[in-house]
Amino acid sequence: MKLSPKIKKALNDQVTLEASATNNYLAMASWCEVTGYQGAADYFYAQSDEERTHMLKIVRYLNSLGTIATIPATKSSPSSYKSLEVLINTALKNEQSVTKAIHNMVEIAQKEKDHSTYVFLEWFVNEQVQEETKFETILQKFDLLGRDKLGINEIDKFLATEATAPADPVA
Ligand code: FEO
Repeated sequence: MKLSPKIKKALNDQVTLEASATNNYLAMASWCEVTGYQGAADYFYAQSDEERTHMLKIVRYLNSLGTIATIPATKSSPSSYKSLEVLINTALKNEQSVTKAIHNMVEIAQKEKDHSTYVFLEWFVNEQVQEETKFETILQKFDLLGRDKLGINEIDKFLATEATAPADPVA
């Protein structure tokens, strides 16, 4: 089976988006760690790892069909944020753009009658629902718990419990 040029381009562009996401979340983790939000740092280290697995999924799908995936250079990530809330909001916006790109790819796969890619993308469609919900839930916490030091500390603790992957590979 051969991928159409349109699908190849869309999948390679998605590799770029996932690579940017893994780097952006790594930069967010660094900012959180240095600012003293250890729970949030653990959360974003894990999130960065997760994005790398998304990128790998697409790289390996392309390779499995004989198309060598293009590994992109990415723009440098912002290294500081006004607040934890601004950072989470930026993460949600990132996810919303990724969702758009995935939906756009699904439409291309439909138009090209590329059933394999269509089925491959199903996992990403479901994943994006979870990704957006995750960040919306965290944002809600600012209204629920407050934006003063105590509120932020509670949110940081919540993020620590939500961090899913090993935060520190050298520990
Ligand atoms: Fe790979 Fe968070 O989207």
